[in-house]
Amino acid sequence: MPAPSRWGGQTMSNHDEKADVTTELTPAPMAAPIDGSIAGKTVLVTGSDGFIGSHVVERLLADGAHVRAFCLYNSNGSTGWLDESDAFRAAVRDGQAEVVLGDIRDPEHVMATTEGVDVVLHLAALIAIPFSYVAPRSYVETNVIGTLNVLEAVRRHGTPRMVNTSTSEVYGTPESVPITEAHPLRGQSPYSATKISADKMCESYALSFETPVTTLRPFNTFGPRQSTRAVIPTVLSQLLAGAREIKLGDVTPKRDFTFVTDTADGFVRAALAEVEPGATIQLGTGRTVSVGDVVQLCCKVTGSDAQIVTESDRIRPEGSEVQILLSDPSRANEVLGWAPTVSLEEGLAATAEWLRPRVDPETAGRYHR
Ligand SMILES: NC(=O)c1ccc[n+]([C@@H]2O[C@H](COP(=O)([O-])OP(=O)(O)OC[C@H]3O[C@@H](n4cnc5c(N)ncnc54)[C@H](O)[C@@H]3O)[C@@H](O)[C@H]2O)c1
Repeated sequence: MPAPSRWGGQTMSNHDEKADVTTELTPAPMAAPIDGSIAGKTVLVTGSDGFIGSHVVERLLADGAHVRAFCLYNSNGSTGWLDESDAFRAAVRDGQAEVVLGDIRDPEHVMATTEGVDVVLHLAALIAIPFSYVAPRSYVETNVIGTLNVLEAVRRHGTPRMVNTSTSEVYGTPESVPITEAHPLRGQSPYSATKISADKMCESYALSFETPVTTLRPFNTFGPRQSTRAVIPTVLSQLLAGAREIKLGDVTPKRDFTFVTDTADGFVRAALAEVEPGATIQLGTGRTVSVGDVVQLCCKVTGSDAQIVTESDRIRPEGSEVQILLSDPSRANEVLGWAPTVSLEEGLAATAEWLRPRVDPETAGRYHR
């Protein structure tokens, strides 16, 4: 069953939303229970220190898994967002979780860390599209070579299950919507190109070596702990700082937003599902909303009537901007029994509640690539 939200406590449904915006809505069927159990399994999570990874770790702990949290090495021993997680700290004290600091670009270290685990959930990546225009090689090294290192470790150790994290950005601006997993891939940014490469490495390991890897392809995820490089935290931060003008790039692109606890639920389901090696399953709500409409909803949630101001710095190159992302969630529902349970408005309210005490008015309007 999906984990209850720690940020709202409301009845959460994707069907009863009353947003004052025009959206294309495809109701999602209710999720079936997960077959099997993750309890007692040892799960290695790369990117545990990040936004989605930290929620995945908390969900795994709640479900009784033993978690090996792989966090990017730093000399002060920070585990990123897990430093703020009471559940994770308690699990480390109780021996239910352990921390491994490292770098997925280091093959020997990844090999050693993967020994003895039942499942690898591979989320570590460089993820910001604008920074991939600036430093594309680092994206190749982390997203492609890093994924290769994880695949090799899984292959050598005979790890029973790996989940690779893709992204809806691999489709580029789609030829048709809603997008299914069969839609062609298009590298519209260096970030997207590296995620396509990583997905294809996983496919090749499944076909060549029967490596039991599933590629999970989330559409845009949002929620507490997301960095302000992403559109929802950047809008909410500016509003909560009391800005009268919200600085943004293009507000016409449309996105399919999933709340982070629903995305985490998809990872646990993918870890347990009996699927063909190499299968790809996308996670999205089947609903798309423009950035401009998201701003309206954020204004509603925060009680603001601020205006949008376009900043040229934040506009992406024309050929690189993906105009619309809208998922067909059928496969996730059929294969994983997955369906989103938190509506966009509920998720925005929970995100605003989390951000409110953390917003720094001096930096809220700064462009964060
Ligand atoms: N946020 C979204 O909307 C979204 C949508 C689709 C897919 N994804 C994918 O989900 C995954 C997690 O993204 P996120 O939004 O939580 O981003 P994030 O930046 O918060 O998390 C990524 C984590 O990877 C770690 N990392 C980066 N380089 C590393 C390295 N060389 N070695 C070890 N760790 C390293 C970082 O420390 C970071 O904590 C990524 O694979 C991303 O491509 C995210």
